[in-house]
Amino acid sequence: MRKSDSRLAFLLLPLLIFHSLSEPESAIAPMEKTERDALYRVIQGFVGRSWNGSDLYPDPCGWTQIQGVSCDLFDGLWYVTAISIGPILDNSLECAEEAEFSPLVFQLEHLKSLSIFSCFSSRRQTIIPTSNWENLAENLETLELRSNRGYVGEIPADLGQLRNLQSLVLVQNSLVGKLPMELGNLIHLKRLMLSGNQLSGTIPASLCNNLAELLILDLSRNSLTGSLPSSLCNATSLLKLDLSNNQLHGSLPPELGNLRHLTLLDLRNNSLSGASSKSLLGMESIQDLLLSHNPWGGSIVEFDWENLRNLTTLDLSHMGLTGTIPEAIASLKRLRYLALDNNHLSGSVFSELAALPSLNALYLNGNNLTGELGFPERFYRRMGKKFASWDNPNLCYNAVAVATGNVPYGVAQCKQDREPSTFDDSISNGRGDNGNLDKNSAPLILLSVQASETGIQSHIRNRLPLTYTVDQKIRSIMNLRIRTVDGRFATALWPVVLWTIYLIAFLRGVLTLSIPQERSVTVEQSLRLRYPSFRLCVS
Ligand SMILES: *[C@@H]1O[C@H](CO)[C@@H](O)[C@H](O)[C@H]1NC(C)=O
Ligand SMILES: *[C@@H]1O[C@H](CO)[C@@H](O)[C@H](O)[C@H]1NC(C)=O
Ligand SMILES: *[C@@H]1O[C@H](CO)[C@@H](O)[C@H](O)[C@H]1NC(C)=O
Ligand SMILES: *[C@@H]1O[C@H](CO)[C@@H](O)[C@H](O)[C@H]1NC(C)=O
Ligand SMILES: *[C@@H]1O[C@H](CO)[C@@H](O)[C@H](O)[C@H]1NC(C)=O
Repeated sequence: MRKSDSRLAFLLLPLLIFHSLSEPESAIAPMEKTERDALYRVIQGFVGRSWNGSDLYPDPCGWTQIQGVSCDLFDGLWYVTAISIGPILDNSLECAEEAEFSPLVFQLEHLKSLSIFSCFSSRRQTIIPTSNWENLAENLETLELRSNRGYVGEIPADLGQLRNLQSLVLVQNSLVGKLPMELGNLIHLKRLMLSGNQLSGTIPASLCNNLAELLILDLSRNSLTGSLPSSLCNATSLLKLDLSNNQLHGSLPPELGNLRHLTLLDLRNNSLSGASSKSLLGMESIQDLLLSHNPWGGSIVEFDWENLRNLTTLDLSHMGLTGTIPEAIASLKRLRYLALDNNHLSGSVFSELAALPSLNALYLNGNNLTGELGFPERFYRRMGKKFASWDNPNLCYNAVAVATGNVPYGVAQCKQDREPSTFDDSISNGRGDNGNLDKNSAPLILLSVQASETGIQSHIRNRLPLTYTVDQKIRSIMNLRIRTVDGRFATALWPVVLWTIYLIAFLRGVLTLSIPQERSVTVEQSLRLRYPSFRLCVS
């Protein structure tokens, strides 16, 4: 009997295979009914009552997969591992007007990822379930609720149970209340993004104590108050820290410098009042440093800008900064965007900024900068509207050096440039010609050099250009002494400058040289190059 049975089965086998290929229903992916029904109910909650899952998708983990739903096989049975709702792809399921968050989600215990995008509009308010999250604790790694303006209420403290969560994104909803400190229990978190809600209160001091794996912390566009807790700095793996557009105050904790891997620090538009220079010192990887719109105050000259070699964006506008523009900024070769506008900066604008190879936006407007803008014409041409220097009443540009089409907007011509003086003119014009020059040093010879930047620069530490064009021979410069405004580099550089001056004399081109009437003055005669850090003294 047995033998014939098995022979019969053997004969039937091809038939069975054929049958199962042509009639897929018989090959439904094995799945517990409770799991399947919970999935239907959850989806139906989002997309509306008219959606009949068992009708449309009888085999949701098999041959009738639901858009945005993924499954995986565990011990021979299929379970839902990911649900993604909202208009992401063309064929994504869209939420109904009367969408609701079904608590049956908490039966889908194998869920790794739950994402609800643009589902709850502000017309229909709903809250995030406050309990039962522990059911998902074993597996949930990603929870994203984005752009659901109808999501009101507080961030449930219960989310702190999701001990394997790696990404918590609750962005652009309408969440209110405080940041639950339970979020600090999510020790595997890599991304914590809560921006664009109405969260208030302080950042809990313990928030980041144990978040050693955190890479991105974005709490921007909320109403958070208080100061930056120094514990934030325990998250030493952090790459991006965005706390912009809140009401944070106080100064930055010095420990912030522990964030050695940080590439973005955005603290714009808060009430922060400065930082000890240590705070930013250690951030050697920083690329984007955005601190604008804070009542910071003070000078930024002392700060060790040289350390931040990878800086590409530096936004320090509207910060009440005083003092001069730090020259060290000229050593940040990767800088692309530099905004120092709307502060109280004074002193001159050093022309080395024009030599920053990647710079394509420079905002200096709304300060108290003085003297001559010494940028070459092609710099203004290259920058176009991304250069601004207006609202600096004592700043001027050299009309000789810049063609009318490229003059910096809102800046006056320098006085001494209006009538370019020659050797002989200046004898008759006398001292009056010295126009905007520093009165204290009362330079007796004004040397106005228009130049292009190349080789010699490097001889003189990027401070002087290679080729000068000269149209008058310099005759009587004998013993040159060089002194920078701040007294540095004096002896080391003067032979090079001497050589440069001979080169000027040799090349001949456009040179404006003026000597006052009292030519007999033999004490120290100053010869001033356009490069503001240098003053040449002739005796
Ligand atoms: C879905 O459709 C089936 C028939 O295909 C029906 O038996 C079932 O009641 C429907 N369910 C809902 C929730 O409408
Ligand atoms: C950082 O964490 C350690 C323990 O992990 C703790 O002792 C220390 O106080 C924390 N630092 C801050 C600034 O909170
Ligand atoms: C600063 O943030 C406030 C809200 O805190 C906002 O209303 C304002 O527009 C922001 N200002 C800027 C310059 O972004
Ligand atoms: C600066 O950037 C370069 C290239 O992007 C990178 O290799 C280097 O590690 C960075 N330096 C620091 C200190 O992060
Ligand atoms: C601007 O600087 C000049 C000196 O260069 C000073 O006399 C003047 O008071 C400053 N103006 C403001 C508004 O700080």
